[in-house]
Amino acid sequence: MPRLHLFEFEDQPWFPQIIREGMMDFLRHGISWTNFYEPAAPLIKSTMGSAGEARLIELCAGGGGGVLKMVSYLDSINCHPKFMLTDLYPNISVYESLKLQSNGKIDFITYPVDALNVPEEIKGMRLLFSSFHHFRPEAAKAILADAATKKESIGIFDAGNKSIFTILFGVLLLQPFAFLLLTPFFKPFRWSRLFFTYVIPLIPLCTLWDGSVSVLRFYSVNELNQLTREVSLDHYLWKTGQVKNRWGLKVNYVIGHPS
Ligand SMILES: C[S@@+](CC[C@H](N)C(=O)[O-])C[C@H]1O[C@@H](n2cnc3c(N)ncnc32)[C@H](O)[C@@H]1O
Repeated sequence: MPRLHLFEFEDQPWFPQIIREGMMDFLRHGISWTNFYEPAAPLIKSTMGSAGEARLIELCAGGGGGVLKMVSYLDSINCHPKFMLTDLYPNISVYESLKLQSNGKIDFITYPVDALNVPEEIKGMRLLFSSFHHFRPEAAKAILADAATKKESIGIFDAGNKSIFTILFGVLLLQPFAFLLLTPFFKPFRWSRLFFTYVIPLIPLCTLWDGSVSVLRFYSVNELNQLTREVSLDHYLWKTGQVKNRWGLKVNYVIGHPS
């Protein structure tokens, strides 16, 4: 299926932050409850080892997705880095709650950090989860080039199967039930989340749209290869590939680090 870059609500600067945060809360619980990014942990550990990094910088962290789970996956393979959460629209209240739950392993940056131009002083291996497909090829290449020219390692992980079946079954059929049944259990508790789910259902409707469009935007491994070829630098190595999580769902990845 060819890559289609249609409109997503959460990319729009005018989109209300309260709805964006509700959508990110859903994504965070989904990623965390399904252990989506578990197979990324060994790849992150080995890249940190080759690059001599001790700190992870999550770009486009949104609602902090699977960061708590990632801390525990890495712990279980004897890797104990500190995480720093960043975003162009930082979700401070969620980051504070994640920091409290993490025993000092997670911290965050309160000012906007643009993944296409990360300030030099933010050092560490960069990570992106469930966000690379938001960027058109030119911007995606700028993210890769920014890491490579600043000699920082990077791991990009985007999960999902690019098919009509995923849109019909995984998004349009399953997600409305998930919203209906699970929303009261999402943390931190917010009245706004209940209001914009059950009274005026903007959070579920925008998530269904963005979720379907995200599937169409996924980069295949071939497309990721093409992007890395176009930003190849002498001192920097790229690797792309695909792993499967315990549910058989695919995670496409790009790893880059100074040689
Ligand atoms: C789908 S969400 C990411 C979800 C998150 N990584 C997770 O696992 O829950 C995409 C995020 O990218 C952020 N974003 C969009 N453009 C950005 C940019 N140029 N630099 C940094 N963050 C950006 C948005 O604010 C949004 O939070």
